[in-house]
Amino acid sequence: MTAFFRKPAVLAAGLGAIGLAAASQLYQKEPIKKNTLGLSPLPKDTSVVFVLGGPGAGKGTQCANIVKDYGFVHLSAGDLLREERQRKGSPYGELINNIIKEGQIVPMEITISLLHAAMKANGGTRFLIDGFPRAIDQGEKFEDEVVKSKMVLYFECPEEEMLKRLTKRGETSGRVDDNIESIIKRFKVFKETSYPVIELYKDKVEKVSCMNTVDGVYNDTKRALEKHFPSK
Ligand SMILES: *[C@@H]1O[C@H](CO)[C@@H](O)[C@H](O)[C@H]1NC(C)=O
Repeated sequence: MTAFFRKPAVLAAGLGAIGLAAASQLYQKEPIKKNTLGLSPLPKDTSVVFVLGGPGAGKGTQCANIVKDYGFVHLSAGDLLREERQRKGSPYGELINNIIKEGQIVPMEITISLLHAAMKANGGTRFLIDGFPRAIDQGEKFEDEVVKSKMVLYFECPEEEMLKRLTKRGETSGRVDDNIESIIKRFKVFKETSYPVIELYKDKVEKVSCMNTVDGVYNDTKRALEKHFPSK
């Protein structure tokens, strides 16, 4: 399902768009236009749900359920970046690798372009955008340039619980960002960046507690989702 993300063309398209927009501005003496990335429009009925939650809050599992039952396409900003980082010959691989390892935020133009290219390439109209935005300006930029989000699904989870889950995952996954030091950094970054985003979107945030069985969390998730997407 994610095979197309591995195509260099997806990133190339995204970065190409940035380059073109930047180049076209050089020839314009007018003030810089608001729509600086110049991304192509998506279908009018495109709906986006931002999915937020700290590392280990269970976003991935719940997103998979929603994809299966509601015909959403799941796009993880982190996965898109990780795949780019692992792509042989990517000039951005090492940069992205270091940024993720430090728990820092990748320049939003790259993330937004990757997301837009993936949405375009997929052709669906309902998207779960997981782990994004991680800052107010990212959300505003995305909504200006791509599409307004319809709701924000926030998986609320105590830090002790996330730590427990992540240390367990780190034993097997070998993910570079699953060691204690990185986890603590990621919590800090998550709080500093995502809390303001949750506040910004408070009128469309649905909070779901992670402190339940996977099925239990999914029941709450469905209830939250169906407020904004009434079931067929
Ligand atoms: C989830 O909802 C279904 C259907 O309403 C119910 O049968 C099930 O017991 C619920 N599961 C949990 C863990 O709450």
